[in-house]
Amino acid sequence: MSQKVRSRRLGSVLEAIGNTPLLRLAKVAPNAPDVEIYLKLEFANPGGSVKDRPALRMVQDALADGRLTTDKILIDSTSGNTGVAYSLIGAALGIRVELVMPKNVTKARKDITQAFGTSLIFSDPMEGSDGAIRLVKSLVDAAPDKYFYPDQYSNPSNPLAHYHGTAGEILDALGDRITHFVTGLGTSGTMMGTTRRLHEHTRKVYCVAVEPAEALHGLEGLKHMASSIVPPIYDAGVPDEILPVSTEDGWDMADKLAALEGLHVGHSTGANVAGAVVLAERAQREQGGGCVVTIACDRGDRYFAPLRWERRYTW
Ligand SMILES: Cc1ncc(COP(=O)(O)O)c(C=O)c1O
Repeated sequence: MSQKVRSRRLGSVLEAIGNTPLLRLAKVAPNAPDVEIYLKLEFANPGGSVKDRPALRMVQDALADGRLTTDKILIDSTSGNTGVAYSLIGAALGIRVELVMPKNVTKARKDITQAFGTSLIFSDPMEGSDGAIRLVKSLVDAAPDKYFYPDQYSNPSNPLAHYHGTAGEILDALGDRITHFVTGLGTSGTMMGTTRRLHEHTRKVYCVAVEPAEALHGLEGLKHMASSIVPPIYDAGVPDEILPVSTEDGWDMADKLAALEGLHVGHSTGANVAGAVVLAERAQREQGGGCVVTIACDRGDRYFAPLRWERRYTW
């Protein structure tokens, strides 16, 4: 069945979003031999990350109800994976995309989105990502008819993409075998949407949110809620447990995944798998077995500066 899904014929790159593989990890939890750990490979989406799903759903829902038309500009404040997702989706649908980002984000971040034809607007580097959010809001307030502003932190289409997509695919692949789900909190869309659907399943699935253990952390993509602006789509009542993971443990697990499993992933994925191993060891001790699912948000090479991106004519 998964073979058929992977080799299917597509009419648009957008149809390649979702239906990602679920990989059983063989070596990361030697102390939980009777617990299966599965990693959903979201880096297999065409934009290279889990954010393709919510970006597509936010655009599709807005096109369906008229908030977005092809004469409007999609604008948002992101220099990360969501910006890449908007850029590829905008290019595929013929919708102009503008991204606001602090001027000091890496050249690689600017280059990847510009490769799709996206325009960049730079905000004050001293004001960080909050400054980018303030600037985008002021641009949209000044010309509301010109722009569609998806605002992934408050847009219900973000968790809905995971409710219908990510969770449905996990249940299709594993059915009643799944006992635990764990993933990190960024906008919280993945956690909220997937957990809501898994909690509706006939058998109890224990769902855990990974959170950076420190306010100042190096787990790109994840939020330390206590010290952050809490996203309006986040509902603290949804997860069964919050599990703090340190930056060091997230980075160590990312290294382990590369060396032991052949998976070079970003650090939020390292934190997710570190959380999955904690739950697997607990399930081994307390239940004698189980099946834990987590998410590979993106690949590690997203965090490299590309060696040779700019087209240079040197001959
Ligand atoms: C690398 C990475 N990891 C994790 C997340 C968190 O996902 P979510 O926004 O669904 O909470 C994001 C997205 O913001 C991300 O880009």
